Amino acid sequence: MLRSSILSVAAAFATLLISPSARAETPFLWGTSTAAYQVEGGWQADGKGLSNWDVYTNQVKVVQSVSGRPETGNVADDFYDRPRYLGDIQLMKKLGTNAFRFSIAWSRIFPHGTGTPDEAGLKHYSQFIDDLRANGIEPVVTIYHWDMPQALADKGGWANPDSVRWYALYADTLFREFGSRVKTFITVNEPFVDLFMIQPAVQSVVKRDPSVGLLTTRNYSRQAIAAHHILLASATAIRDYHAQKLDGRVGITLNFTPTIPEQGDDPADRKAAAMEDEAQNRWFLDAIYKGRYPPDVLQAYQAANPEFQPSAADMKLISDNPPDFLGANYYSPAYVRADPNAALGANWLSTNPDKVPSFNGPVRPEYLTELLLRFRDQYGNPPVLVTENGAGFGERDEQVAGDIVRDPLRADYIRRHVEAMLKARQEGANVQGYFLWSLLDNFEWTAGYGKRFGIVRVDFDTQKRTLKESFFGYRKLIADHPDGR
Ligand code: NOJ
Repeated sequence: MLRSSILSVAAAFATLLISPSARAETPFLWGTSTAAYQVEGGWQADGKGLSNWDVYTNQVKVVQSVSGRPETGNVADDFYDRPRYLGDIQLMKKLGTNAFRFSIAWSRIFPHGTGTPDEAGLKHYSQFIDDLRANGIEPVVTIYHWDMPQALADKGGWANPDSVRWYALYADTLFREFGSRVKTFITVNEPFVDLFMIQPAVQSVVKRDPSVGLLTTRNYSRQAIAAHHILLASATAIRDYHAQKLDGRVGITLNFTPTIPEQGDDPADRKAAAMEDEAQNRWFLDAIYKGRYPPDVLQAYQAANPEFQPSAADMKLISDNPPDFLGANYYSPAYVRADPNAALGANWLSTNPDKVPSFNGPVRPEYLTELLLRFRDQYGNPPVLVTENGAGFGERDEQVAGDIVRDPLRADYIRRHVEAMLKARQEGANVQGYFLWSLLDNFEWTAGYGKRFGIVRVDFDTQKRTLKESFFGYRKLIADHPDGR
């Protein structure tokens, strides 16, 4: 059972009396999350270079609306505009959050990928960071959230081993410029979804070759090389951050999808679920915290692609430089069934028994508790920030009613997941913050504007913001559990 707010305030007070060092502890972070390409717009403002996503949406036109119109992030939530984002910061304050997670557009800092950082780009984020702090909101910066300068994408992006060097220069620039004001950095966001799900789908359109987008073990094994470069880049940046002796922390954000065998008593489904668990949940974690990739998937990738041979020195770099905290994105578990035609023999995308399915899978809050306890039990209980959690259910759950939007399913999802997170904390999981995806409806990658995840509705024609029922629900949860207890 969750404690009442009075009890939790009393408990916090008692902790302060017992332990003077608790005073210095960072408060529990309650926040919302976004990413540059999904909200900023301003795609050609102030000398910004083209990013891969500018090209995918404007030139290749990979995203089409229901009406068949190409959709882009050219304007999105207009969040690059200072008067506009200052208004949105007021919404964060009204919500009661004390932190905001956002990403920096690499193509604003290095319009051509490398060389000298762009002054206008640095100035924009410097101002934004100051504006957040002046309003009592702690900035949490994701360095790479899927958009990279097109100049680097042209050279192969993460598939190119030089990507480790490109990224290290970019990350180091941000540490030097913002490290005295930003206390929490995140190296990369969800490499699995970026490289194993979104990129294959996009590239099959770019290359006009549907076979590129097929979820096969062979395609996965090629992407494993790019994923390995991401881990090397992240570890290099973590090493460089620590060398600068800044007063803060740097983590990595991974997506987690607990896997449930569709027929629990079928050994084939159980094996498929275990494979998928290795590929999605253990792949990056084991490399970081144990210095090795999980054995069955590693073997499958190497059989499909003998070029994938991570060296002992690489694995050492990754495990010698673990993140200061683990960023965990959780939306849902997956029901997995054995399927010889699917990558790694596991089909995990088709089953959702829920009456009104959410966009990102079955709604099962108890798996969030289980996941956080798994970090406690199997990975040495590292500090964890839940860096994303949220839901969208489609227009049925987005009913505009005067000056409010009724979204009871989202509000219910948030309440149950926050409670699940608090439960894990009570059981000793080292969770230090929770960030909801997302403050605003925004550009949902290949799904464009058709999938709303915000607790604030955005009218994409007028930029009008309307608060949703879930906004008030989340506000109450924060007010009831200010210190995360
Ligand atoms: C994960 C991604 O990090 C974010 O960019 C995306 O919009 C949300 N999930 C919702 O699907």
